[in-house]
Amino acid sequence: MKNQVKIEKIINPFKKIITVSSDKSLSIRCILLSSIATGKSKIFNLLESEDVTNALKAIKKIGVYYKRKNNYFEIYGVGINGFKIKKNSVLNTGNSGTLARCILGLCSGIKEKIKLIGDKSLSKRDFSRVIRPLKLFGANCRSNNGKLPIKLIGSNLLRPIKYFEDKGSAQIKTCIILSAINTPGITKIKAKKSRNHTELLLKYLNYPINVKKTKKYDLINISGLNQFASFEYEVPGDISSASFFIALTLLSRNSVLKIKNVNINPFRIGIITILKRMNAKIKITNKRNYKGEYIGDIGIKSTKNFKSISCPEKLNSSAIDEFLLIFLIAAKSKGISKFKNLGELNKKESPRLDIAIKFLRMIGVKVKRKNDSIKIFGNPKLKLNKNYHIKSFLKDHRVFMLSVVAALTLGGKWKINDKDSINSSFPNFLNISKELGGKII
Ligand code: S3P
Repeated sequence: MKNQVKIEKIINPFKKIITVSSDKSLSIRCILLSSIATGKSKIFNLLESEDVTNALKAIKKIGVYYKRKNNYFEIYGVGINGFKIKKNSVLNTGNSGTLARCILGLCSGIKEKIKLIGDKSLSKRDFSRVIRPLKLFGANCRSNNGKLPIKLIGSNLLRPIKYFEDKGSAQIKTCIILSAINTPGITKIKAKKSRNHTELLLKYLNYPINVKKTKKYDLINISGLNQFASFEYEVPGDISSASFFIALTLLSRNSVLKIKNVNINPFRIGIITILKRMNAKIKITNKRNYKGEYIGDIGIKSTKNFKSISCPEKLNSSAIDEFLLIFLIAAKSKGISKFKNLGELNKKESPRLDIAIKFLRMIGVKVKRKNDSIKIFGNPKLKLNKNYHIKSFLKDHRVFMLSVVAALTLGGKWKINDKDSINSSFPNFLNISKELGGKII
């Protein structure tokens, strides 16, 4: 069957050095920020995946020219308030919640009507979380009951807001920051901690943004309507993509892997903190600062004796895209692992908490759920020998890649649908898996 992979053998021991595809969050932010910088920006190592291509197509629709050069993209920024847009423009944000939510903030100052659409998965996701602050700014935002399609009519008379972002969502935070840039005066955000790429990039660009860190929240002040110059940026590897190979190596026999040049922003490496507490052999080396972000190499060795974890809730946001993998390791651990308040997982490309529970039960792992908290009853001897078929649902790239990792490490005969889902974040995923020795048909 086209668009399906078959895996019937676990992977042999490997010892390799790899790089993974570029960071998706940073790639999208570089595109959006360079579109409102003044002049020509150069972005090296931009992720070439569907979500990022959709970001490039979207800025083109609002009047920003870009060009693919040999090893970088040139983006011709038009400055704040410089967008030129045709009547009734439609922006198709495909599968990307990050692009859709952030571009609404970027466009809050455009007076012409813009329609925002997305694919089947994105059309099921909640946008009331960004519509609320956008309306407070004074933008007119109409939706289909908090879902796509959205019609945005921005304003050149926006007013600064004070907002409490209590979900720990970097997408909401970035939407507000981008809208604040279009707004005269100072916007103040009290934000539950989440990835801070937008703040770091703006600081690097000398944009007037101030972040005061308290234990639980970041207090962000951002002054609007300050033009900033174009820039050069080289996007590092994506920890969320690297995580699939971290888990693959940990669960394989006698294997060693080094993943080079990965973004190790402290708000992204929750998976490493959590897995290390579970005994995982992971080491970060060659740590360096690049334009405000941290980059490093991640060394991983096969691990046999995982212990269970009672996962502190404060790590949820920094591991938000990696819980499927963390659950898989918990399934191979000694003892009962506990994870609390993971309702945000059900707001992703597919309802990932529900799917994870179904997946774990399918492979014979006992799971108890109470509201949005789960207990996983681990079994260090977990081995699979049945037939498993992961059918099409919402084409969630991370569910596909999780299934490949499980098939290559736990055994059984697997058929996994929706191979093309990897194109949204990690087009090279299957090639790297094969390069490490995975027999994938
Ligand atoms: C992202 C933030 C996260 C994450 C998503 C990318 C970003 O979403 O799940 O894959 O680039 O800002 P939330 O901020 O909504 O949790």
